[in-house]
Amino acid sequence: MRVSREGEGQGCGPTNPSQSSPPVLHAAGMMAGMSAAPGAPREVALNGAIARLKPYAFTQLRARQDQLAAQGTRVINFGVGDPEDDTPAFIRDALVAAITPSSRYPTAAGIAPLREAIAAWLRRRFGVTVHPDRHVMPANGAKEALHNLTSLVVDAPGTPGRRDLIAIPELAYQVYGDAALLHHAEVFAVPLGADWLPDLDAITPEVGRRLAILWLNSPHNPTGAVAPRDHYRRALDLADKYGFLVASDEAYSELWFDAPPSGILEACADADFTGAIAINTLSKRSNMTGYRSGLIAGDARVIAAMRNVRPRIGVATPEFVQRAAIAAWNDEAHVEEQRARYAARRDLFLDLCSRKRLQVEASQGAFYLWIRVPATVPGRDATTFASTLLDHGIVVLPGSFMGPRGNEYVRLAFVPSLETCMEAVAILDRVL
Ligand SMILES: Cc1ncc(COP(=O)(O)O)c(C=O)c1O
Repeated sequence: MRVSREGEGQGCGPTNPSQSSPPVLHAAGMMAGMSAAPGAPREVALNGAIARLKPYAFTQLRARQDQLAAQGTRVINFGVGDPEDDTPAFIRDALVAAITPSSRYPTAAGIAPLREAIAAWLRRRFGVTVHPDRHVMPANGAKEALHNLTSLVVDAPGTPGRRDLIAIPELAYQVYGDAALLHHAEVFAVPLGADWLPDLDAITPEVGRRLAILWLNSPHNPTGAVAPRDHYRRALDLADKYGFLVASDEAYSELWFDAPPSGILEACADADFTGAIAINTLSKRSNMTGYRSGLIAGDARVIAAMRNVRPRIGVATPEFVQRAAIAAWNDEAHVEEQRARYAARRDLFLDLCSRKRLQVEASQGAFYLWIRVPATVPGRDATTFASTLLDHGIVVLPGSFMGPRGNEYVRLAFVPSLETCMEAVAILDRVL
């Protein structure tokens, strides 16, 4: 069973708690009642899981890029998936129009028109009927929702019957695993099959009974693989059997090229979406990464817990952002235009890969191409290949940053403009 136990991984944390001290931070003050040996530094105890977090992949990329840029190299970034196209003007206008002279605290549950707009969008897009109050919450983008969901499901260490396992795809956006570790849960890496989808046969009875959350992500970061509806159905059947939650990160659901991908809510058998939570965002759909606006929808009991807990953790979306979000969810024309932009860039790179005999796998959705490192690179090593491209100013993400299964792959995020993509293709035509 591929379970990484707490304390494994980076090897920075104490290996034997009885012999080692917890990680500490030097701080200016001491808590009342604590005493230190004379001359010892003043220290605050930290959550030991922090020392076990892997370096954040994008921070590593940024450092290298900054170095090159400082040397005067023109750097074209296909590494980070942060949309570069404009937020549509009507969305910006909606935000500006919603700015009021006085500013009051927003509520975590959001304004009713936003929940209604989200419910209407879910109905149009996935054909599901969600109740705007019982099944929907706004989120400050997907990321905080992915993280904060964990605290609602994972009980405190030591609680009898606690489910202590969180399953994530073997290659995954870093947030699911980091949230698990920070909540003192163990991470179970679900192997990806030949189709790059999580192999659900890995959810054996032994795993299923310990599982708190199974994370799914389609279209998948980093591979762009798209799950069929049946995949969700199978995951939900397992959830029914063992009593865990299936949380589906659908951040890229609107970036598709052939047919709109399925979502988990479509696969739910009952009207209260029992066992299923979908998380989506306007970041990619509407180029709104800076606005921090998304949605959480599904299981009525989990949503009720969110309504109780989220007001306590400062994740209420500012009302002017909510008004802009309503405008965004209510419009599809700008999403179609954005898809067309991505399709043109994708075609350009697919053509390059075909000319250069580079193998592209998965890559059915999102703005990623998942490219196998050519055999000419020693050991097909992703970092070596990415470094070579970086020498020519082209940034791609080594798949190994996302997990060992990515060792022979790089992820190319075609977010720069078509013109910039053409510039990069000209460089790659020479280099490859
Ligand atoms: C799979 C996945 N989920 C969620 C997010 C975060 O989205 P948001 O900007 O809504 O926080 C990202 C960002 O790149 C992502 O790749």
